[in-house]
Amino acid sequence: MDPRLSALLDDLHRFGVEHDAERLDRLDRYRNVEPDTARLLAVLVRAKGARSVLELGTSNGYSTLWLADAVAATGGRVTSADIDADRTELAAANLARAGLSDHVDLRVADAADVLSESRDGTWDFIFLDAERPAYVDYWPDLVRVLAPGGLLAVDNVLSHAEQVRDFCALVTGDPRVAETLAPTGAGALLVVRDPA
Ligand SMILES: C[S@@+](CC[C@H](N)C(=O)[O-])C[C@H]1O[C@@H](n2cnc3c(N)ncnc32)[C@H](O)[C@@H]1O
Repeated sequence: MDPRLSALLDDLHRFGVEHDAERLDRLDRYRNVEPDTARLLAVLVRAKGARSVLELGTSNGYSTLWLADAVAATGGRVTSADIDADRTELAAANLARAGLSDHVDLRVADAADVLSESRDGTWDFIFLDAERPAYVDYWPDLVRVLAPGGLLAVDNVLSHAEQVRDFCALVTGDPRVAETLAPTGAGALLVVRDPA
């Protein structure tokens, strides 16, 4: 990775940790993904050669920058959605600082709407990092919009195991996918859609 981007990402993550430490309400925090998880996502995007990447839960763009740098290598594009317009503005500014704006479409939108509007098999790679209680409802669309062989990564499956228990059970019981838990950062569930 370009050392300037690496330094910017380090700064952004440190800023996020300091920002969140001062906020009592969870929803006021940026809740950036752990750097090790972000690195794992970026490697997976590259390994898959993923060109159509969807992120659900942009926040101020920390993970988006990692995904954007990865699709710059694959020749792809990231669409990242968040319901919070202010955070999306911060993400836009951070992408501009990193020189990565051209690789990303930021949307102020509900994840449920982005999924329901997506055509079957649209996305090579999806990173799901929004409000966990909604994930069960997302599952039918998540599996529908993943491309054959497409990969879904879901953060916080170890740190918030109880909140994603029903979602993980749905995934495990679905014969169209195979999954594993990567114990990286807060725990990332990796789900691959069968090719057929
Ligand atoms: C954990 S943070 C995302 C962190 C980000 N991926 C990162 O690593 O920098 C969750 C984000 O999901 C957004 N969010 C919550 N509910 C959502 C929904 N229904 N649709 C889209 N975004 C949502 C919140 O506004 C918040 O910014």
